[in-house]
This record gives sequence, C-alpha cells and structure tokens, in this order.
Amino acid sequence: MSWAVVGGSGALPLAADFAPAALPPNRFGEPAAGACRGRIAGREVIYLPRHGRPQHLAPHLVNYRANVEGLRAAGVRGVVALNTVGGIGPATVTGAIVVPDQVIDYTWGRQHTFAEPDRLLHVDFAEPFDADLRRRLVDAAGRAGLAVVDGGVYGATQGPRFETAAEIERMARDGCDLVGMTGMPEAALAREAGLDYAMVSLVVNPAAGRADNPFDIAAIEATAADGMIRIERLLRAFFEGLDGG
Ligand code: HPA
Repeated sequence: MSWAVVGGSGALPLAADFAPAALPPNRFGEPAAGACRGRIAGREVIYLPRHGRPQHLAPHLVNYRANVEGLRAAGVRGVVALNTVGGIGPATVTGAIVVPDQVIDYTWGRQHTFAEPDRLLHVDFAEPFDADLRRRLVDAAGRAGLAVVDGGVYGATQGPRFETAAEIERMARDGCDLVGMTGMPEAALAREAGLDYAMVSLVVNPAAGRADNPFDIAAIEATAADGMIRIERLLRAFFEGLDGG
C-alpha cells in the first residue's frame, strides 16, 4: 500500500528533506507544484502541498481533481489529509487536533466530481472517511502521547474569506464542530477514486464570532507551527504502526 500526506497551509518540516517528485499533469490539469517523496518511519510517502509550493493557490483555486488523480496515478492508495480549521464546538478549542468523522459541504462552483456525462458515479459517502484509517490515526495519537478529538463534523466553506458570525451560527445549528476551506471536494474525490482517506485537522482559531479577542493572524501562525510539530509526532507514530504493505 502506498501512502500520501496532503498538506495544507504551512509547511511540513518532516518533508523538508524529501526528494522533489512532481506529479505529472493529467487529464484534469496540473497537480499542485512541490510534490516530493521520502520516508517517514521507514515507509515511502508522497507529500503533496495542496496549495502548491511556494504556496499560491487559494482554497477555491486548488485543482482537487488533478491532485487526487495525480496521487492515484502514482499508485497511492491511502491519503492522510492535513488541514487547519476554525473551532466551532466546545471540544474544538484552539490547538486541538481533531480526526473528523463527518462532513457538511458548503462549497460551490468547484470541480467536485470525476463523473462525466458518460460516466455516472454514485459513490456511497454516508461515512466520508475511511473508518480503519481514522482508527489508526486516533490510536497513533494515543501512542505518541497526544490528545486528539476522535470525531467531529467538518464544515467545508468556500473561502478564501473567513465566515461571518451568522454563517458560523448557522453551521453550529447544522451540527458543525469545525470549519475549513479545503476538505471538500477533496474527500469526495478521494472516495470516487477509490482511495482510503482521512483528515487530521488542527484548530488554529475560534471560528468567527466565537472569540472575545479580535482575529490575530500572528497567533494563528504560532498555533499552526506548534500544532504541526505535534502532527508530525502523530504521523511518525501512524507510519510506525502500519503493518505489512
Ligand atoms: N474558517 C475557515 N477556514 C479556516 C478557519 C476558519 O475560521 N481557520 C482556519 N481555516
């Protein structure tokens, strides 16, 4: 089984010494620039920074189809997707690492399917994340001594602007615990492509209207940097714990 880690905003220092391994263009276009290959805990991993490297693609401009097809064509069968999110629910405080178990999609106008006029695809998406992969990620956090929130509803918004307080209120009423801009259509495309896919989300700010203090980009960046170090520990434990293939 070949693995990929799809990274969000913020670099993954773990991949700093990976060898460049650009994913070639495919019929959906150009995968994000900056893909590289290396080993984590002895296992071959492709790292794909979904916003490109240097980071330049806003969430609505990421070519999710080219990225997912590029990984599939490279032989990848399992994807751990990293993303930063805003926290909505009481458990999703700033700094928390979450392995969500559900999604609500509020994005629009994105190329969101591999289905074509002559190729209907009705995939089962009741459980949007691979259950076994989720369990392995949660267990890995435990082995690494990291607190993790097991489950939560990820609400995917269009961006690139942040939400209004009223939009977040509505998302809370809908049952969302987290808000981010990149989870969809990536997760659905991975399902259509037959890849095992799960997310590790890092809460970097309280969602709009949920904080007493004003929005603080420097604080968000500091939380993201600290969180990425913990997520790297989680990834190492995850890849160490994989048996076979
Ligand atoms: N909203 C949407 N996406 C995000 C947020 C947020 O508050 N924080 C990080 N990504």
